[in-house]
Amino acid sequence: MFETLTPPPQDRIIDIMGLYAADARPEKVDLGVGVYRTEGGRTPVMAAVKAAEARILQAQESKGYVALAGDAGFHAAMRGLILGDAVTPERVAACATPGGTGAIRQVLEMVQRLTPQARIWVPSPSWPNHAAIIGHLGLTQVDYRYYDVDAGGVDRDGMLADLAGAKRGDIVLLHGCCHNPTGADLAAPDWVDLADVFAATGAIPFVDIAYQGFGDGLDEDAAGLRSLAARVPEMLIAASCSKNFGLYRERVGIVLAVTDLGQARAAAAAMLAHLNRQSYAFPPDHGARVVETILTDAELTAQWRAELDAMRTRMTANRRTLAEALRAETGSDRFGFVAAQRGMFSLLPVTEAQVAQLREDHAIYLVSDGRMNVAGLTAETIPRVARAIAQVLA
Ligand code: LMR
Repeated sequence: MFETLTPPPQDRIIDIMGLYAADARPEKVDLGVGVYRTEGGRTPVMAAVKAAEARILQAQESKGYVALAGDAGFHAAMRGLILGDAVTPERVAACATPGGTGAIRQVLEMVQRLTPQARIWVPSPSWPNHAAIIGHLGLTQVDYRYYDVDAGGVDRDGMLADLAGAKRGDIVLLHGCCHNPTGADLAAPDWVDLADVFAATGAIPFVDIAYQGFGDGLDEDAAGLRSLAARVPEMLIAASCSKNFGLYRERVGIVLAVTDLGQARAAAAAMLAHLNRQSYAFPPDHGARVVETILTDAELTAQWRAELDAMRTRMTANRRTLAEALRAETGSDRFGFVAAQRGMFSLLPVTEAQVAQLREDHAIYLVSDGRMNVAGLTAETIPRVARAIAQVLA
């Protein structure tokens, strides 16, 4: 059975994780996979998570199954965190999933079942696993213009012109905040214009929000998504708790489907639970329960928010310091966009060969498309990284 198997193409992010792990040079710098790191290079368990886990350990008396869609308390807590009061809870069907990737997969599976002819509009560029999952499910992908490399920002006019070509029932993927891989986010008026596009075309927004709290703040980062949710009849959301709760390996994600009231909501909820059943039956519970414990306790919420604020502040400071170092090294403002962008990533204007040169000659690891994780920078490595980038791109 396996003799004829051709190994599938490796995801470029997973690829770089392997190369970095195999590099024995002590000075190596990991700016690859999207994992938060402290100034000391660690990815610690957040103190609020530890405290919630201690409470769960103490109080939990059963590891019996919960429900196919996960725990209702987790649904309510995440609905509040993401949607605020943008829509009434009665319109939202929720389903816990293994990570944000699980949520994306379940949303796309649902689309495949309900409207297999729908085209999935994907910003160019996007997280590589978006295209991989769309292709895996045999759905049709259409790219739309998103990033303006010269401006280091969103190609707003290109995006709106392309999306005007969407048809009724098509799905438009949007990054809720901290766009991966560019760090270039939609501004408040863009979300309003997008709502007009959805009204005109009948396409349905699908928002992937994996970095809430890493851009400008928890509410600030969800403001665009909320303004859209308040304006459209239907919307799909895939959210992750990997980054903002640091729960990567616990796999905590959720699908929120904003529907019409009544039958539509019940049907969406039933379909999502059914899809969980077909893939893995019950979603993992531990991480979801940690999130619920934190979000339903004022003291733990405050502790978590403070930790998240500190993470965001460090990433923003790294952006500023690197942009200044690059200005000093190059004598130009061509990397000013790094300071202006938000979240964990920026996309450097480099070729794959230059990424390889940074890796081989300087032990600096970027993803092959030039994506850089700013959380991997430290006060010590920034001058060296800036010098290497300036040299390689000279
Ligand atoms: C990333 O973009 O690096 C992370 O979301 C990890 C992943 O699964 O790709």
